[in-house]
Amino acid sequence: MSFSATQVESYSDTAVHIVPGPILLLGAPGVGKGTQAKELVKIWSIPQISTGDLLRSHVAQGTELGKAAGALMQQGELVPDSLVNEMVARRLQEPDTARGYILDGFPRTLPQAHWLDARLAAQPDALPVVAVSLHVDYNQLIRRITGRRNCPVCQRIYNIYLNPPRTAGFCDVEGAALAQRADDREEVFAERMRAYNAQTAPVVEHYRTQGRFAEVDGDGAIAAVAARIVTAVERLRS
Ligand code: AP5
Ligand code: MG
Repeated sequence: MSFSATQVESYSDTAVHIVPGPILLLGAPGVGKGTQAKELVKIWSIPQISTGDLLRSHVAQGTELGKAAGALMQQGELVPDSLVNEMVARRLQEPDTARGYILDGFPRTLPQAHWLDARLAAQPDALPVVAVSLHVDYNQLIRRITGRRNCPVCQRIYNIYLNPPRTAGFCDVEGAALAQRADDREEVFAERMRAYNAQTAPVVEHYRTQGRFAEVDGDGAIAAVAARIVTAVERLRS
């Protein structure tokens, strides 16, 4: 689902016209980070930087990083901080990040958060991050993960139960056959949740204590959740 022009205009002018700066989308696997990042891209015209998507692209291309990351990702474990930080550092050098960017799935460990904080602190003109932590209950996470399908061409995200394509199995826009992620099996999801609770939950607490932090209910229609995030970011940037 996506916003029509009228829906985007329905956000307050200040929300749409603020300089968004760096926005972190935090939350458990399947909570909707990627789905919401794509909505925010449309509103603010800033890039989504998904470390999961970047890593999957390295795996698909068979790069050295992809070779190091692939097996860990299939097991639901995190990729080493040094590799991920380096990948993010390269992406942040691109000029499309000047007005802001949405970090989806990064930082995911305290060392990654400290690295990002230090990097931003070293740039006197950089806006501080605002962090949004999304939540849905565990049963909803399972449904979202097991029902997820992706378009391999345009990366649109569907869900066979909750957000199905118009024609089962095919992307609405590209017509390509939809694919299921290798790590979207229940046993791998359990491992991803263990990694999230052990390594990423402390990152949420880190940003909570820094202020500029909002907890957002990720349940409900995609547009409704996006509206909550936009309201939160507007408030945190004012
Ligand atoms: P990553 O790709 O980031 O996976 P994740 O965090 O587990 O999150 P997901 O992508 O599974 O979920 P999401 O929150 O984006 O949900 P989505 O919007 O798709 O990381 C994968 C792996 O890469 C990691 O396990 C790790 O190995 C490695 N990695 C990545 N970053 C790393 C880092 N920083 N450090 C180290 N390792 C790293 O939505 C899910 C489903 O729900 C979809 O089907 C969607 O259609 C549906 N849905 C979403 N919102 C709604 C809604 N409101 N209503 C109905 N359905 C909805
Ligand atoms: Mg994602």
